[in-house]
Amino acid sequence: MLRVGINGYGTIGKRVADAVRAQPDMAVHGVGKRSADYVAIGAAEKGYDLYVTDQASVDDFREVGIEPAGTVDALVAESDVVIDATPAGVGADNRPLYERHETPAVFQGGEDATIAEVSFNARANYDEAEDAEYVRVVSCNTTGLSRFLAPLQEHYGVEKARVTLVRRGGDPNQTGRGPINDAVPDPVSIPSHHGPDVQTVFPALDIDTIGLKVPTTMMHVHAINVTLETEPADETQVRDLLQGEDRLLTIPEYSDIDGAGTLKDFALDAGRPRGDIWENCLWEESITLRGRDLYCMQAIHQESDVVPENIDALRALTGHLTASESRSITNETLGISFGRLRDRKDLTADRQTAD
Ligand SMILES: NC(=O)c1ccc[n+]([C@@H]2O[C@H](COP(=O)([O-])OP(=O)(O)OC[C@H]3O[C@@H](n4cnc5c(N)ncnc54)[C@H](OP(=O)(O)O)[C@@H]3O)[C@@H](O)[C@H]2O)c1
Repeated sequence: MLRVGINGYGTIGKRVADAVRAQPDMAVHGVGKRSADYVAIGAAEKGYDLYVTDQASVDDFREVGIEPAGTVDALVAESDVVIDATPAGVGADNRPLYERHETPAVFQGGEDATIAEVSFNARANYDEAEDAEYVRVVSCNTTGLSRFLAPLQEHYGVEKARVTLVRRGGDPNQTGRGPINDAVPDPVSIPSHHGPDVQTVFPALDIDTIGLKVPTTMMHVHAINVTLETEPADETQVRDLLQGEDRLLTIPEYSDIDGAGTLKDFALDAGRPRGDIWENCLWEESITLRGRDLYCMQAIHQESDVVPENIDALRALTGHLTASESRSITNETLGISFGRLRDRKDLTADRQTAD
């Protein structure tokens, strides 16, 4: 059993902790937390050992009935590997701590790419992490784009990708973030940082990205145009290719899922924890081919799409399973399959054939 320490138990950290707990080959050794707030109480109620970032805050935790198991320094020393899910930039400050204890670590997309030897996506470059000590799971948007581009690159080649990212203003718990009633070019300069970030996974890829921010907490939405190197036979061929990807959910027309709001509602109805959607959500009707130009739109759940990637990164880093073995265990244990959306269609088709 791999003992995993999770330093930072916020939006990403708490989800990764639950995902680690669901795996047969790893266990949560403890979680690092700074403030004794409702999230800390939730972690204690789930049975996670809490390690405090600062010895001086131990009394704050005791006041809410939590006895810390130690400091983050001890968490790092006792763990086989650490997931750093602290806020963007704090991970870089933490790296010397991981080095001191010779504990490999998985950083998040808020860190600069230089923090780790590999910018990681389980679909695109799992094997590159094999000899690494430190990897960075790329951001939610870069994860979504990497998953989408990998099969296209393999089957047709990508001459040029152009993506407009309509990004959520903040996560549901980020009450101080905006915009409140606006649509803001962010950044106003082109390309946005997302294109270069995708190139940390696909160094030779020609990609330009444009970013905006809008007042929603639901999901990001990407409007994509990819010029392929070779022309697919038809749209169906591309659709079948994308539908064959385990972490790409194609949304059929009959489902009436018309936006991020209905997607989240669907995820909650399906009993997904926290309404999480680990897959890219690609509107099937939007998949359009004009010669070598492919167009489509996808939604990305920023709070959760990187969670399975963190689990696969742990296995890639410790080198005990292949990419496909790891991905299939992760998918199965988390329940990454909205298969019933597609199954319904197959069922209907079967019934019609029988009639
Ligand atoms: N949120 C997203 O949509 C998203 C998506 C993909 C990737 N990411 C990336 O994932 C990383 C984590 O983001 P997040 O949204 O999960 O952050 P978050 O919700 O703010 O959680 C950060 C966690 O780290 C703890 N922390 C804060 N300051 C710390 C410090 N100085 N030292 C140690 N721990 C500290 C926080 O504890 P307290 O709460 O007690 O302060 C909290 O538990 C970032 O790199 C981010 O860019 C985020």
